Amino acid sequence: MNILILGSGAREHAIAWKLAQSSRPLKLFVAPGNPGTAETAVNLPVDPLDFERVREVIIANSIGMVVVGPEAPLAEGIADFIMGDPALSGVEVIGPCRDGAMLEGSKDFAKGFMKRHGIPAAAYETFTQDTLDDAVTFIRRMKPPYVLKADGLAAGKGVLIINDFDEAVTGLKAMFGGKFGAAGSKVVIEEYLQGIEMSAFVITDGISYRILPEAKDYKRIGEGDTGKNTGGMGAVSPVPFASSSFLEKVEERIIKPTIEGLKREGIDYRGFIFFGLMNVRGDPYVIEYNARLGDPETEVIIPRIASDLYDLLEGVAHRDLASREIKIVTDTAVTVMMVSGGYPDSYGKGFPVSGVENVAESIIFHAGTTMKDGRLVTSGGRVMAVTSMGSTMQEALDKSYSSVRKISFNGMSYRRDIGADLKNHII
Ligand code: AMP
Ligand code: GLY
Repeated sequence: MNILILGSGAREHAIAWKLAQSSRPLKLFVAPGNPGTAETAVNLPVDPLDFERVREVIIANSIGMVVVGPEAPLAEGIADFIMGDPALSGVEVIGPCRDGAMLEGSKDFAKGFMKRHGIPAAAYETFTQDTLDDAVTFIRRMKPPYVLKADGLAAGKGVLIINDFDEAVTGLKAMFGGKFGAAGSKVVIEEYLQGIEMSAFVITDGISYRILPEAKDYKRIGEGDTGKNTGGMGAVSPVPFASSSFLEKVEERIIKPTIEGLKREGIDYRGFIFFGLMNVRGDPYVIEYNARLGDPETEVIIPRIASDLYDLLEGVAHRDLASREIKIVTDTAVTVMMVSGGYPDSYGKGFPVSGVENVAESIIFHAGTTMKDGRLVTSGGRVMAVTSMGSTMQEALDKSYSSVRKISFNGMSYRRDIGADLKNHII
């Protein structure tokens, strides 16, 4: 089977790395990939949003399965495009069609879906420029902090959490005024949930599902969860405060009704679902859905899956996931993201990365790297994810930080406190 993975980050590297270990004869391609994916797959210089080029390389390389990493091609309908093209008939897509991707692509749709299926989430209402006065009245009736969410995709930046009423109204007007482009023409205003966040993940063939390891990520740039939001600075799996009774509630109250809800709404969802959760005094609430795996969550989820990942993907393609087994190791996986100086604001690129060859105890998943004149150099804000496994979280952290210290590039930065908040949760 020839498999094409779409995307270029550490998530896609982790997927390629795992599929390369399959006992099945697979040939892997990644578009566009990075120097890390080039170790186990053939990189194709194709933008995943350029569907015509994707079509060409599927045909040229006899691709039988496409695994979609990021959200943008899903929201743009890559799965509909492939499945609707007679020249691509028989090509399986791991990733939902446009209707399923709406769980991530429209906050208003996701909130309505949760309400229709009784899935616990923050109370909300949705407004547009035309209902601005009602929105202001709604905010006035709520208790701060006020949570304002742009309806559409905004690269993880479309959420404002504001304590002051006047600032919230100003923020709302800025959203309607185009602060997040068209994504903000509708705004969801919701109740603030006080709790501790984590994420759950499933793979589904639209009939049944398999639960993947859960994870906690670290979104802020600064230690102690301070400063600006980033794509993610690190992750840990399993999550020490996610007890088996809490995870049972997640499955019963959230995962099952989501899968059933999709069926009931006629959405034939085949792919991954990412549940962003808030643990509010032991009860799970959905903060958001994503129609894909997370990055950097994938970098800790994938190494904990002991079974053959291809077997699960084939279960989705054949719609017999219920008969496939998933084995998860109890060891802890942690990942520390090494980022460019200045990230998430502007940063320099093209700095040589050295020392990767000295790392033995960790897995390096490349994100923003490229080859220039035969040398590995930086090419993005998040440069590489350093993942380690250990029988305890501390052991895994020690390995990752020791590996991080072996690597260097101009301006290199990373959080030194990944997992630190979880240490007093360890039983
Ligand atoms: P989202 O893009 O919906 O995941 O929101 C981004 C971040 O905002 C989340 O990861 C939470 O930290 C925070 N957030 C979103 N919604 C809420 C809420 N209702 N209550 C508290 N925090 C929230
Ligand atoms: N790490 C969060 C995400 O992938 O959306």
